[in-house]
Amino acid sequence: MRVNWKSWSLNKHQHILVKLAVAILLVGLAFRLLVSRSKGFASDLESPVLEKEQVQEPALKPPAPVEIPDNEDQIPLDVVAEKCDLFIGDWIPNPSGPTYTNESCPLIEGHQNCMRNGRPDTGYLYWKWKPRDCQLPRFNVERFLELMRNKAWALIGDSISRNHVQSLLCMLARVEQPVEVYHDEDYKSKRWHFPSYNFSISNIWSPFLVKAAIFEDNNGVSTAEVQLHLDKLDKTWTDIYESLDYMIISTGKWYLKAAVYHENDTIVGCHICPPGKNLTEVGFVFAYNKTLHHVMNFIAKSKHKGLIFFRTSTPDHFQNGEWHNGGTCPQTTPAKEGEFEIKDLNRILRDVELQEFEKAAAKAADNGVNLKLLDFTNLLLSRPDGHPGPYRQFQPFAENKTAVVQNDCLHWCLPGPMDYWNDVIMEMVVNG
Ligand SMILES: *[C@@H]1O[C@H](CO)[C@@H](O)[C@H](O)[C@H]1NC(C)=O
Ligand SMILES: *[C@@H]1O[C@H](CO)[C@@H](O)[C@H](O)[C@H]1NC(C)=O
Ligand SMILES: *[C@@H]1O[C@H](CO)[C@@H](O)[C@H](O)[C@H]1NC(C)=O
Ligand SMILES: *[C@@H]1O[C@H](CO)[C@@H](O)[C@H](O)[C@H]1NC(C)=O
Ligand SMILES: *[C@@H]1O[C@H](CO)[C@@H](O)[C@H](O)[C@H]1NC(C)=O
Ligand SMILES: *[C@@H]1O[C@H](CO)[C@@H](O)[C@H](O)[C@H]1NC(C)=O
Repeated sequence: MRVNWKSWSLNKHQHILVKLAVAILLVGLAFRLLVSRSKGFASDLESPVLEKEQVQEPALKPPAPVEIPDNEDQIPLDVVAEKCDLFIGDWIPNPSGPTYTNESCPLIEGHQNCMRNGRPDTGYLYWKWKPRDCQLPRFNVERFLELMRNKAWALIGDSISRNHVQSLLCMLARVEQPVEVYHDEDYKSKRWHFPSYNFSISNIWSPFLVKAAIFEDNNGVSTAEVQLHLDKLDKTWTDIYESLDYMIISTGKWYLKAAVYHENDTIVGCHICPPGKNLTEVGFVFAYNKTLHHVMNFIAKSKHKGLIFFRTSTPDHFQNGEWHNGGTCPQTTPAKEGEFEIKDLNRILRDVELQEFEKAAAKAADNGVNLKLLDFTNLLLSRPDGHPGPYRQFQPFAENKTAVVQNDCLHWCLPGPMDYWNDVIMEMVVNG
């Protein structure tokens, strides 16, 4: 189904809307569970370790060798032969595998710690991202830390941002262990410091980027719909915005949830509306568009002198169902090109993101603001094998080989495909 935005009038396409609304409702519920269950990963790591059955040590075996240019890993960082689209490329075999493991990095959230949780196959660890038209050097930890001396980064967004910050920290930890220097009350926002470099990385929890009142208990069960103020940016990130040298901002999936939308402190509509209140369903695209418009405007009009990345939301790979009704992602190798089409909901979010980014990019450039796009959609679509699946839980099949368990086909195993984001980001930091 191709969605033409021009024709997205509420009155005209009610049929599509109703179908979509049902899908969104379901996915909304799914994300409510998925995203909020993983709160406070500290508690997750501390949860009692189940008695271990005899675990077979996974033989770290690379995939069958395929011809690779032998200099692939020795490309000096500064030599960029040509400018190219870093986001169009292929996953090629990478016999050297990940640069960290569950043993070397203590910062991996339990639900994404596929190695620790007993994922038996390891092939998914031996692929690296190769842009089609140029060489991409591997992330150079020493060089990165040196560049970031006295600098401050923040990754701002939802649990996918948290997933990413852990990937980055784990890669950097090979040279220096980050020290956690701050966390908020709920352990949702955190800051780490690399003492030898006076370099800090924050993870800012702001799943909507705008002011939001969220009513969910610790089990992710919501007692009321979210109250979203579309014209008020979330101070959690705007308050530190000026102090940052680099940031990666993103949002997405939380907009699929039930919410009441406010502008100028007046209710302007809702999505998956609360019954009995006579509010108007306006669809999440309405809210997403407005939010991104405000976020982008804020950035474009700021006097920020650092580098700001806007990251598009990430695709999921739930098959034969969704999060809540048995969806799985059993692949163990990257997909062939075109094997996985972007799902409607993922595409709808991304289209709004790209549209608002494009509009803001020109304004930002005029204003001397360095705003860049990170669109990992293609890179991720071909990695259905990179999700925890059932291994979001510790040893899910230890007691029952055929147990039916919840799968996570949205977040990414660490180590895993997400680590290769950092190669791309470093390249953009170093060579513009
Ligand atoms: C790492 O994972 C392996 C299984 O792959 C497990 O045997 C080991 O105990 C784990 N180590 C930690 C520190 O979690
Ligand atoms: C450490 O970095 C911060 C900026 O992130 C800077 O304000 C501060 O002066 C630096 N401290 C030292 C000792 O250089
Ligand atoms: C916001 O609401 C106030 C009163 O509640 C009103 O005076 C003002 O004009 C409104 N502003 C906009 C931009 O609608
Ligand atoms: C619901 O709101 C509409 C206009 O917003 C109004 O015409 C209608 O009477 C309201 N219905 C009820 C039951 O309050
Ligand atoms: C988003 O809002 C802008 C106006 O700010 C409008 O031109 C555009 O069509 C909207 N996009 C969508 C997808 O609704
Ligand atoms: C294992 O799980 C399956 C699926 O839930 C169930 O049918 C079966 O009874 C379980 N076996 C044991 C021994 O618990």
